[in-house]
Amino acid sequence: MNSTNYVTLLKDSWTRKSASWKLALLPVVLMLLWQSSVLSNSDGATNHQLKNQMTDPIQTYLGKRWTPLKDHGTQLVLRKSDVRFPIIPSGRRSGKTEISKRRIAEAALLEQANWSLRRYFAAAPTRQQAKNIYWQDLKDLTRNFWLKPPSEGQLIIYVNGAYGPSEIHVIGMDKPERIEGQPWDGGILDEYANMKAHAWTENVRPALADRRGWCWLVGVPEGRNHYYDMVLECCEGAIPETIPGDGIYYINPDTGFGFFSWHSADILDPGEVSAARRELDEKTFKQEFEGSFENFEGLAYLGFGNHNLHSIEYDKNRPVWVGMDFNVDPMTAVFCHVKGDSVYQFGEAYMPASNTYEMIEHLNEKFDRRQVTIFPDSTGKAEKSNATASDIALLKKAGFAVRARKANPYVKDRVNAVNSLMRSADGSTRYYVNAANCPKTINDLNKVERLPDGRLNKKQEELGLKHITDALGYLIAYNWPVKTGGYGSVQRGA
Ligand SMILES: Nc1ncnc2c1ncn2[C@@H]1O[C@H](COP(=O)(O)OP(=O)(O)OP(=O)(O)O)[C@@H](O)[C@H]1O
Ligand SMILES: [Mg+2]
Repeated sequence: MNSTNYVTLLKDSWTRKSASWKLALLPVVLMLLWQSSVLSNSDGATNHQLKNQMTDPIQTYLGKRWTPLKDHGTQLVLRKSDVRFPIIPSGRRSGKTEISKRRIAEAALLEQANWSLRRYFAAAPTRQQAKNIYWQDLKDLTRNFWLKPPSEGQLIIYVNGAYGPSEIHVIGMDKPERIEGQPWDGGILDEYANMKAHAWTENVRPALADRRGWCWLVGVPEGRNHYYDMVLECCEGAIPETIPGDGIYYINPDTGFGFFSWHSADILDPGEVSAARRELDEKTFKQEFEGSFENFEGLAYLGFGNHNLHSIEYDKNRPVWVGMDFNVDPMTAVFCHVKGDSVYQFGEAYMPASNTYEMIEHLNEKFDRRQVTIFPDSTGKAEKSNATASDIALLKKAGFAVRARKANPYVKDRVNAVNSLMRSADGSTRYYVNAANCPKTINDLNKVERLPDGRLNKKQEELGLKHITDALGYLIAYNWPVKTGGYGSVQRGA
């Protein structure tokens, strides 16, 4: 095997522009095809096979999964740099994971070492997540170079690299001991902002020491948590602003860390980006689609203002959507009509020292129960010690339609969902409230606070705050979810 050409081929295989470029590469590829272990190990290629191989030599040689990617300035710098610990907080669907997959495959195929077996990992916060994100694609990227079939049980791919064998392990950081205690040549921590704060210092960094391994720390930011601290330290206290179209990078030669970031719009379809701008509040949009470390500290419902006030009243001919929190002191609910894509809150219930039975009574007094759909706190599924049935079961037994998922969304995603309806990044409003009928909701919207990482300030519960906006949040997050890890639409009210 001619390793230099092999390296050139692989290095240039991410971004390919013109047919002439491909033609210029053809002799190299043909030579490689003849020299490579792929062909010499095969039973011999027919003319027909060779002709097909010539139509897209790179994909033929490396595998179909090596599709061309868009050229991108910061990505190219990242690929060519030898930064040991690149930190890559960028927007959703901006290609972070795709280039991470290629980095791992490239390393498994091409890196050299003085030891007989090189070992790489691709890790995500949970094993299931890691498997969903990486397993199939890493198999497809390396398939032409397998030493033996991958272990589906252990999630290990065995690769016949240009300079000897290597293994790729797909790992969930829910069990960090899978990383600990074994030497690694390199790896990826994906969705790093959602990993435990100490995962890097306690579990991963020590395991990279023996072999001077590298690691990419990849993910969308998550407020100002450990990921932010890491970037801040790398950038020596001031994170440079990202340039639309090109991205930004900052390499810190003293520490081995580097910062690389770019907007989703650089890679993602413009239609998708404008849809997100319409649906998300400004801060959430900047975090999720521009990879920005937003400070969420301060008032939680920043989107709330005069533009949300409306004189809507209850209309007995329209369906009523109820958001409900099962806290007993107070027990709270919000009452809304939905028109088109907008929520109109016409009423509320705020019942000190109460319970689900009393709330049911209250709803029956106010509404025709056949018109009502309740979107409650999902944890109301659990039976409480002082109740004979769960809160949700009680609501259903009383004849109400109830919509609840298996688990509640993350608090920060729920708050972001409410903010997104209050005012989205493109300035539109989809939440309105009748201030005269809903004083407790208004009070909450004006006072509830958030911590820097986006969670709510629990201490305010002692003041009776937070519960009624939680109730509103359950309704909104069920129907207009803002999810960490991607955007999907769900059927409203379904
Ligand atoms: N230059 C590029 N770099 C990376 N991906 C690209 C590029 N051009 C196009 N793509 C495509 O963009 C898509 C990006 O998906 P990817 O899963 O890598 O995004 P992500 O940033 O990890 O998103 P998420 O935050 O949702 O995990 C892939 O399908 C990939 O093929
Ligand atoms: Mg990803």
